[in-house]
Amino acid sequence: MTKTPDSDSAPLQIITGKARLAGVLGWPVSHSRSPALHNYWLRRYGIDGAYVPLPVRPDQFEAAVRGLQAAGFRGANVTIPHKEAACALADELDPSAQRAGAVNTLVFEADGRIRGLSTDGSGFVASLEASGLRLPASGRALLLGAGGAARSVAAALQDGGVQVAVTNRTQERADTLARLLPGLEVVPWAEWEAGLGGYDLLVNTTSLGMEGGPDPLFCPSLKAASQALVVADIVYVPRQTPLLAEAAQQGLKTLGGLGMLLHQARLGFREWFGQDPVVDAQTEAALTASL
Ligand SMILES: NC(=O)c1ccc[n+]([C@@H]2O[C@H](COP(=O)([O-])OP(=O)(O)OC[C@H]3O[C@@H](n4cnc5c(N)ncnc54)[C@H](OP(=O)(O)O)[C@@H]3O)[C@@H](O)[C@H]2O)c1
Repeated sequence: MTKTPDSDSAPLQIITGKARLAGVLGWPVSHSRSPALHNYWLRRYGIDGAYVPLPVRPDQFEAAVRGLQAAGFRGANVTIPHKEAACALADELDPSAQRAGAVNTLVFEADGRIRGLSTDGSGFVASLEASGLRLPASGRALLLGAGGAARSVAAALQDGGVQVAVTNRTQERADTLARLLPGLEVVPWAEWEAGLGGYDLLVNTTSLGMEGGPDPLFCPSLKAASQALVVADIVYVPRQTPLLAEAAQQGLKTLGGLGMLLHQARLGFREWFGQDPVVDAQTEAALTASL
């Protein structure tokens, strides 16, 4: 395998009869940036392989997974709405998938077993670390949202020793999350802005602020924040959400969602294609070009 540091001089993608294959299962799946990212890495490392979008209806999910296995695929990413079905289908779950209750990466083992991983949360933490944004020991984080991404991010932060609180428009969903992740605190949605002073990290894990989402202009008040607060948004379209712009305006450190997207993909790529891919400025530029 040739490792080429410069994507401009990278070899053309090779696909022979021995190519390693993977893809992303979703419904719909056309919005997924994973094919652009994985095929960029395949080209960059000169790997004989391909990664394809796989639009699969929910009632066809299991049949599609078994078919991919039968066709010799190495595995697949799983996106909305299949993450929980993938969790149920896997023969073996790694601890992150067990804690997240969802699987975003399937690995087809040579003996026919299917291993399920959840890399969203560890991708977020890796992105935070890669940006040099360290939290104090036993730091405190507040997550906006209690959906699938929140669960994964909360579990990964807890695993790193962070005290995590969540707040969600629908309180019941936050309470459910707190039952699944012991130690998680729930803050009422109407009260989180006023209580922001007690946190080191704020993470928006809702779809608020996302282009085409329920409220693209979502911009809460950060007036109660301490100057040490790090503000992260896992939304990556746009790259700078109104929340991040407001935080930057107040002189706070910020982190966008693109890094999480890049880092969560690394583990699957390594499992299927046998190479640990780098996340650097070129990778980021390749992905940004596809947005
Ligand atoms: N950067 C990355 O790699 C990455 C990875 C995964 C996800 N994401 C992004 O994360 C976001 C959430 O994904 P998900 O899979 O967790 O979705 P999800 O399970 O559907 O959860 C959506 C969350 O957004 C909240 N929400 C939606 N509309 C709202 C509104 N009008 N007001 C207040 N809260 C609202 C929901 O609150 P309720 O419970 O009250 O409905 C829930 O907490 C998406 O934008 C997705 O693109 C990014």
